[in-house]
Amino acid sequence: MKKYKLIGPISQLISMEKATLKGAIKDEELSVLHNAGILIKEENIHSIGMYSEIKKKALLLDAEIIELRANYVCTPGFIDAHTHICYSGSRARDYAMRNAGQSYLEIAEAGGGIWDTVTKTRKSTLQELTYGILKRANILLKNGVTTIEVKSGYGLSVSEELKMLRAIQNANQNLEADLISTCLAAHMLPKDFDGNHQSYLEKISNTLFPILKEENLTNRVDAFIEKSAFLPSDIYPYFKKAKAMGFDITVHADQFSTGGSEVAVKMNAISADHLEASTEDEIELLGNSDVVSVALPGASIGLGCDFTPARKLLDTGGILAIASDWNPGSAPMGDLLTQACILGTFQKLSNAEVLAGITYRASAALNLKDRGRLATGMLADFNLFRTTHFNEIFYHQGKLTPSQVWKRGDIVYSDHN
Ligand code: NIG
Ligand code: FE
Repeated sequence: MKKYKLIGPISQLISMEKATLKGAIKDEELSVLHNAGILIKEENIHSIGMYSEIKKKALLLDAEIIELRANYVCTPGFIDAHTHICYSGSRARDYAMRNAGQSYLEIAEAGGGIWDTVTKTRKSTLQELTYGILKRANILLKNGVTTIEVKSGYGLSVSEELKMLRAIQNANQNLEADLISTCLAAHMLPKDFDGNHQSYLEKISNTLFPILKEENLTNRVDAFIEKSAFLPSDIYPYFKKAKAMGFDITVHADQFSTGGSEVAVKMNAISADHLEASTEDEIELLGNSDVVSVALPGASIGLGCDFTPARKLLDTGGILAIASDWNPGSAPMGDLLTQACILGTFQKLSNAEVLAGITYRASAALNLKDRGRLATGMLADFNLFRTTHFNEIFYHQGKLTPSQVWKRGDIVYSDHN
């Protein structure tokens, strides 16, 4: 196999090279390259430019020339910065009950909610969980998602959380997409734990955290801050320990009530995710911080709740990423592009802001510097859509899917069109 590959000509290449990290972006500010070519060296981008120019360089380097014979728009590979795709079982009953007007409590009393998924996930073997992740991650990959964050959080004991994180690690070794794992042992107080919130978190940080480091299972720690889960006062000492051990922090914040985003800002978290309940105060706080706000429209659609105030967060100067939150309870759809486009219509986001939210700004939510933009030295992760203008991608609200997905310099999906 040759070391270099040239792909082109590409009708419009949206590199995101000049997109700012913070605040609003107008579509006119997107850097669009016409009749472009991408020269790949192994798994990275060697250079990008006018096809006619870059072809000369490619010939000198004896590159494999992959000539495109139709119109394509190229975007960076999408990044889904928040999912829970390691799970077993369905919560279709919760969904039906919720839509029939039953309360959270009634659903929990009928055996639904997070604990239902915990019970089923605990019954699954490591292999079964690995298979479930592979199946879902491959659906995302076909839709152009080349990097996928995956949380634990349905194990809720040292051994069961380890099983989940090892399944994520196994799946990552057998997938073309990259998985970024996160420990969400602080998802809820497990019903079978003999102790209170603080003693559970102490057990996790004292026993699980060192194993996560030893086995290199994750460098990220998440917590669900909510009255039904953990209070800020429970989480401060937990996060302090995690940070002292070198973990990056991320928070499920302000989903139903406020409090989480303040913890995120005070603890210098990488991201604060959800934010459907954030008010002007929280928007101000997040907008003036370096914490990435992650909107999860899939959860709003799944639960029938308000969307994250994405427009206001951007207008306040915030960093907005958009993720699917794919999980069996609140966000069963698992379609990042569709959800991001829908958030765009309800929150009046420009196409540039939607695209930044699932590429460059999503890479910031995962603290990854090597992806999210198409530029020299970055990973050669990109999508080719069979169309002439990038507006078409958003206009079709996720129904125009990539014809080709490239990951680390190789084509990993093609619809042969
Ligand atoms: O991000 N909010 C908490 N956790 C998940 C839902 C988990 C579940 O219902 O299984 C979320 O929406
Ligand atoms: Fe979540």
